Amino acid sequence: MIQEIVKQLDPLPPKSKFIIFGGGYSGQRIATVGRHLGIQVLCSRRIKGSEGADFIFNNDDQLSNEIFEGATHVLSCIPPLSSGKDPVLNKLKTKLLNSKTLKWVGYLSTTGVYGDTKGAWVSENTMPNPQQKRSIRRFSCEKEWLNTNLPIQILRLPGIYGPNRSAFESLLKGTTKMIDKPGQVFSRIHVDDIAGAVIFLINLYSQGKTPSVVNVADDLPTNNLEVIAFAAKLIKKSLPKIIPFEIAKKTMSPMALSFWQENRKVDNQLLCKKLKYSLIYPDFKSGLKNCFSELTSNQ
Ligand SMILES: NC(=O)c1ccc[n+]([C@@H]2O[C@H](COP(=O)([O-])OP(=O)(O)OC[C@H]3O[C@@H](n4cnc5c(N)ncnc54)[C@H](OP(=O)(O)O)[C@@H]3O)[C@@H](O)[C@H]2O)c1
Repeated sequence: MIQEIVKQLDPLPPKSKFIIFGGGYSGQRIATVGRHLGIQVLCSRRIKGSEGADFIFNNDDQLSNEIFEGATHVLSCIPPLSSGKDPVLNKLKTKLLNSKTLKWVGYLSTTGVYGDTKGAWVSENTMPNPQQKRSIRRFSCEKEWLNTNLPIQILRLPGIYGPNRSAFESLLKGTTKMIDKPGQVFSRIHVDDIAGAVIFLINLYSQGKTPSVVNVADDLPTNNLEVIAFAAKLIKKSLPKIIPFEIAKKTMSPMALSFWQENRKVDNQLLCKKLKYSLIYPDFKSGLKNCFSELTSNQ
């Protein structure tokens, strides 16, 4: 619930103007939290008329100067272009650099930049070792942002879940696959904690706490089977039969296969212990209970 996030956050300065590039799943949630905190937030989408589009940002249309005027905070939630370039910097780098009002710039990246560690923990001190093409492009965008000298902070995210994007949707559609790969874990983060962490980090930044890279992950990397079993119990659905990974991989999409080929646990000590962000959903159980209550309240 939005109140859960808002009540644990300090407000942003009332005249703040927050521009979010990429008002998709996370972008919209961050925008909602910002608005509940009483500030102006403008969110982009690519196509005119899309839900939640305050302005259009794409390859073709020109961005009006009005959008940027007086912007204090900017966040990009947009993945890299296939060329490896960052779409926001590609079009707006000079505008951003010329701004006299910007106090914080954020970039949502992925923990995919760490590559495969065969199940070992990765922290912000771990040297990135991206192996998938999309993670190589992502790491290149991170470097592009870090090299700008803007007041930039990179937030590295593992698998994002939350209402309408969790184990429940496939259980309801009957498309869940119980894939068994012993030793395999995935880290994850609830979308409300992305929103919470963004506002929290913006406030800390203004107090001089400015780490350039922060992992935003929950406390409990977990095997996928445990997550599905917990969700199925909540929603009272029986579990499909378990398929060994070696068999499942034969029919997996290249994208799905690439996720299963990497195994790492994402350490959140910087965010949660050193900077003292308190996770709203510290593990998949608390997060799934929230998704379940949203699901049932919408029925
Ligand atoms: N999903 C995950 O589990 C996960 C995990 C780690 C990191 N990430 C990354 O974290 C960020 C946020 O994730 P999300 O799942 O919330 O993203 P999302 O729902 O897919 O939203 C992405 C947003 O970026 C916009 N966009 C995409 N390509 C664009 C382009 N070339 N030019 C302009 N706008 C473009 C989309 O526009 P439209 O609204 O018009 O479609 C959308 O608003 C993304 O960069 C994502 O890759 C995702």
